[in-house]
Amino acid sequence: MKTDRERFDKLFYTPLLRYRVANPDQLNTALLAEAATMRAATEGLSKSNRGGWHSEGNLFDQGAAAISALRSAVESALEDANKAIGAKAKSDDLRLKLFGWMNANPKGAFNAPHTHPGAHWSGVYYVAQPDVDEGNSGMIEFVDARTDLPNWRILKAAPYRLKKKMRPEPGEIILFPSYLVHWVYPNETDGERVSIAFNATYKTARK
Ligand SMILES: [Fe+2]
Repeated sequence: MKTDRERFDKLFYTPLLRYRVANPDQLNTALLAEAATMRAATEGLSKSNRGGWHSEGNLFDQGAAAISALRSAVESALEDANKAIGAKAKSDDLRLKLFGWMNANPKGAFNAPHTHPGAHWSGVYYVAQPDVDEGNSGMIEFVDARTDLPNWRILKAAPYRLKKKMRPEPGEIILFPSYLVHWVYPNETDGERVSIAFNATYKTARK
């Protein structure tokens, strides 16, 4: 006996959005110059990065014009992302805190799997990527945290894929919820991967 489908709800989906800034070459040249200055001044931190350099403090507190330009691009992407997920909170009622840092992964460096607890959106802006079409250098991979998924592999169905990897291009911003596990493949090339990661956290605005 045949049945008719009446409804198909997609519950608890995970949004992942990608944006492209205007004139990325100019912005990236300026950001790489800022990176060189910062790297000469500080040793950097060790967080999820294995090898490579991680800037100290909140990058968005730094006054450089290129950082301010990036901040405004990120704010515009966040506004669109909130619209895309149908957020009903009004932007006037929210106060946004953006915390950013720069990562430079030379050959051999990678970022171990992690989440960004406590934030809402997390994201990455790509300043420089390994110039490759094949292999995993420059790839970020997202891992589904649902524990029973391996059981579903037999169906080969997109909603139950265990992981998703991508290699965004310089000039792209990606946004995803901060609870989503992700990691960065080892850079196997001689070119550096330079990115600016950030957390966007909202609080209720005091009026
Ligand atoms: Fe991360």
